[in-house]
Amino acid sequence: MNILFVGDIFGSAGRHIVREHLPHVIETNSVDLLVINGENAAGGFGITPSLAEEIFDMGAHVITTGNHIWDKREIFEYMTVPADSHERGRRVLRPANYAVGTPGFGFYQGELPSGQQYAVMNLQGRVFMSSCDDPFRKADELLSKITAKVILLDIHAETTSEKVALGWYLDGRVTAVMGTHTHIPTADARVLHGGTAFITDVGMSGPYDSVIGVETELVLNRFLTGMPGKFEAAKGNPKMCAALIGCDGATGRAYSVQHLMLGE
Ligand SMILES: [Fe+2]
Ligand SMILES: [Fe+2]
Repeated sequence: MNILFVGDIFGSAGRHIVREHLPHVIETNSVDLLVINGENAAGGFGITPSLAEEIFDMGAHVITTGNHIWDKREIFEYMTVPADSHERGRRVLRPANYAVGTPGFGFYQGELPSGQQYAVMNLQGRVFMSSCDDPFRKADELLSKITAKVILLDIHAETTSEKVALGWYLDGRVTAVMGTHTHIPTADARVLHGGTAFITDVGMSGPYDSVIGVETELVLNRFLTGMPGKFEAAKGNPKMCAALIGCDGATGRAYSVQHLMLGE
């Protein structure tokens, strides 16, 4: 089976470029499972229920997120659904290693129309990020609850080392470990020895004439002066970044992974 994982959708430029390229990528690669990181869908900061609906309408089975998940308050209620629900709000994930009692869930297990079981997990790193529980031990805990063989993890983290370490830690236990958050794609997509597809960072789906999605002038001004200022999403040079994973649905082992960067 084929899994497509799309990196952080950033603002309207990101939404448009993904909408433009997704149908063709899905069709030409016979994509069975589509997972999209949507943490920056709302002007670069968070995601709203209507934008989540828009991403689900594009065909996403699950939306993962990260540190920007709480930027838009409207999403709290949308994600507040029973654990055994399969409605859309249940399929917007936040990192599983957030504090107990926060809205939403950090993993989802579902079934495709073919009967294929799958699970998606979302974790956040701890190095140079706001505090959260240990993503390594949390991954173990989630895996003890998941019965599906096909399992994709979105590890939302800042440092390459933490993501690479988690890849090796989970090698052979999950189908794919996909890094997000830095918004810069890395050139290391590979299948690890145990059959886990890995990439340190898929890269954002957004405007690349920017500083990780934000208008260059605004970020430069922040670096040059240290003065506060509102950040706004850039528009120029949009690219969709994604990883295409081939795996055996019966065992969950990946046999191929390819990074895609598609633009205008
Ligand atoms: Fe992001
Ligand atoms: Fe992030």
